[in-house]
Amino acid sequence: MKIALIGCGFFAMNQLHAWKDIDNVEVVALCDRDEGRLAVASALFDEVRCYTDAATLFAEGGFDVVDIATTVSSHRALVELAAEHRVHVICQKPFAETLEDARAMVAAVETTGKVLMVHENFRWQSAVRAVVDELRSGVIGTAFFGRVSFRSGYDVFSGQPYLAEGERFIIEDLGIHILDIARALFGDASRITATTRRINPAIKGEDVATMLLEHESGVTTVVDCSYATRRSPETFPESLLEIDGDKGTIRLDAGYRMSIQIGEQVTTRDVAPPVLEWAERPWHNIQESVRIIQQHFVDCLATGVAPETRGQDNLRTLALVEAAYLSAREGRTIPLTEL
Ligand SMILES: NC(=O)c1ccc[n+]([C@@H]2O[C@H](COP(=O)([O-])OP(=O)(O)OC[C@H]3O[C@@H](n4cnc5c(N)ncnc54)[C@H](O)[C@@H]3O)[C@@H](O)[C@H]2O)c1
Repeated sequence: MKIALIGCGFFAMNQLHAWKDIDNVEVVALCDRDEGRLAVASALFDEVRCYTDAATLFAEGGFDVVDIATTVSSHRALVELAAEHRVHVICQKPFAETLEDARAMVAAVETTGKVLMVHENFRWQSAVRAVVDELRSGVIGTAFFGRVSFRSGYDVFSGQPYLAEGERFIIEDLGIHILDIARALFGDASRITATTRRINPAIKGEDVATMLLEHESGVTTVVDCSYATRRSPETFPESLLEIDGDKGTIRLDAGYRMSIQIGEQVTTRDVAPPVLEWAERPWHNIQESVRIIQQHFVDCLATGVAPETRGQDNLRTLALVEAAYLSAREGRTIPLTEL
């Protein structure tokens, strides 16, 4: 499988390392408007074609999959170019700036018969996956309550300065991931209520959000995130989970400790992710999930199965993001049918 990657920035380096780890995959072309970044990324490969213009990359072709790792404002144009040139597409989150754009992008790729996966990797973190698997096995019976929580004081702005500049911050950037985890655990939500706050005066958008979801399955979840929380241990970038079922509970606590309680019996397992050769703490958790989701994409193409976070699926995570902002702005509960 031949891959071209567009956007050789901060996060793409993880994607490139992960591609190098995966069998039967070859990165054949790279594209970035910034020649310096292009040069750094191309140094990872013995041989790779380099482009500063995406239209030229597509015109010259020679690849089956395009991996779009740019920031959101460029996604629609690049996904539409990919559809025009009939290649499979992986696109970073947030997939689109608006739901209207997202729907158009999904439709554009659908008409080609190619596969579109959104790089929504948090649900693929191995610790999160361990909880998803336990829940789906039915060990705690039928779930009725969940909490997905990401609270940190980590300085994300040094690596990703654009995060300080947008009108929207935490729900669009990070909340999107943990809303997606809530969907992976409990299915789609029918209603959401949200509040937001900005604590850090040096940024433009909100850095705290608290969301209440009512899922179609009958589960109620609290999905909360903050980049204004200074506490020990600093848990960045862990998503902590609490699930109550009618037969027991599952917890994913700080330090990647998963506990399952059935009656009085508690079993605790260390579900810490490995630190891959090219990874570093504390990002190793996310870095491993990048390799897992990319392997999932390769496996899906080989078997003809649609990826779990295919474009169509991600529209529902994006709808939750939009509904959360609407709820916070208007101070009311939003039925997802409104979007
Ligand atoms: N899934 C995750 O865990 C995770 C973590 C961090 C970032 N991200 C996402 O990854 C995306 C990229 O983030 P980043 O921090 O790496 O951004 P970045 O700004 O560091 O890198 C983006 C790169 O894309 C290039 N670029 C932009 N538009 C282009 C175009 N039209 N043609 C060619 N090159 C173009 C820029 O020059 C830049 O080098 C964002 O959408 C972000 O939300 C995801």
